[in-house]
Amino acid sequence: MNRVINVDLGEQSYNIHIGKECLPSLAGLLAGVPRGSRSILVSDDIVFRLYGEQFYEILQSAGLKIEVAVLAGGESCKNLETLGWLYEQMISKGLDRQSTVFALGGGVVGDIAGFAAASFMRGIGYIQLPTSLLAQVDSSVGGKTGVNLSLGKNLVGAFYQPSLVFADVNLLNTLAEKEYQTGLAEVIKYGVIWDSKLFDYLETNIESIKARDMDCLIHIISRCCEIKAEIVAQDEKEKGLRALLNLGHTFGHAFEALTEYKKFTHGQAVAIGMVYATRLAAATDMINEQDAKRVTDLIKNYGLPLHYGDIRPSEIVARMHLDKKNTGGKITLVLPAAIGRSEIVGEIDPAQIEAILI
Ligand SMILES: NC(=O)c1ccc[n+]([C@@H]2O[C@H](COP(=O)([O-])OP(=O)(O)OC[C@H]3O[C@@H](n4cnc5c(N)ncnc54)[C@H](O)[C@@H]3O)[C@@H](O)[C@H]2O)c1
Ligand SMILES: [Zn+2]
Repeated sequence: MNRVINVDLGEQSYNIHIGKECLPSLAGLLAGVPRGSRSILVSDDIVFRLYGEQFYEILQSAGLKIEVAVLAGGESCKNLETLGWLYEQMISKGLDRQSTVFALGGGVVGDIAGFAAASFMRGIGYIQLPTSLLAQVDSSVGGKTGVNLSLGKNLVGAFYQPSLVFADVNLLNTLAEKEYQTGLAEVIKYGVIWDSKLFDYLETNIESIKARDMDCLIHIISRCCEIKAEIVAQDEKEKGLRALLNLGHTFGHAFEALTEYKKFTHGQAVAIGMVYATRLAAATDMINEQDAKRVTDLIKNYGLPLHYGDIRPSEIVARMHLDKKNTGGKITLVLPAAIGRSEIVGEIDPAQIEAILI
């Protein structure tokens, strides 16, 4: 039986299905999906080679006439050029206003295919079929879509909700270890910002989770999706609460950018970002030493890095200034107050941040 979580957004509400070996149940969920004359399965090279045929057959068995578009994959293809190519594929393969886009892959495929669906003929339906841990716990839920510009990440996009998210945890068996770890950093983030029980579970089940035990995965992915659904239902367009999901990210984006996106995966950079957000919170007595140590220990115990290496602290702070949330020379950050509770803190003096960057 799949776990089903509803994202409650009025007319844009949808379900997230999570299960193991649950692919056969997908066809039955597609009965009401708009089908137009053609629909399209969008994937990347690696994922399509592993799972493309299986999904193609399922979609066909649901009575859909399916076309395929395979992207090169990787962050470097999440750009306007790929998007333009995808629109052309959609037109030349005969999609119309009733067609549906199926995004099979990690966050890169989900973000591009979702934005293509948001904008093609002013918007057609799309379904997320996330295959990476990061996509199953984070990017496939909540409707943020978009692409990168050479000037920065995710600068063009739309809030556009899918009509269904379907995650089979068995797909994670083929995920490279560093990609699995990247997802785990986001899972830890949910524990720190929202749910001390999830945090406890991550502490007590380290070996099973590292070994990708399917039942543990269903538990943690379901819990992360429930939390994201709850947050997005209250604040779809990130006017406040949703910003909590950025814990570790302002630091993390600086670490990623200053190492030209080569040294760290996104999750590794976020993990280090959480270590420093926690250190800053401890330095200002916002979190007690014991909780701060638990955050850092958990990150360490999952094999994630704790330090950014040899970047100059002044460069890190300068880069953090570019973040969209800042005002008037001060910096806004999400900081942990306790295990399971974080706050958005504004007006932070940059010198205070530089002082804890050791
Ligand atoms: N929309 C959102 O709310 C949101 C949230 C977080 C991140 N993101 C975006 O997500 C992207 C990162 O997502 P990602 O980490 O999934 O990266 P990704 O899509 O590049 O996938 C990582 C790698 O894993 C491979 N892969 C995926 N599933 C696999 C599987 N089952 N087996 C084997 N290999 C597999 C992919 O081919 C790729 O090489 C970034 O662009 C980020 O901006 C979006
Ligand atoms: Zn992230």
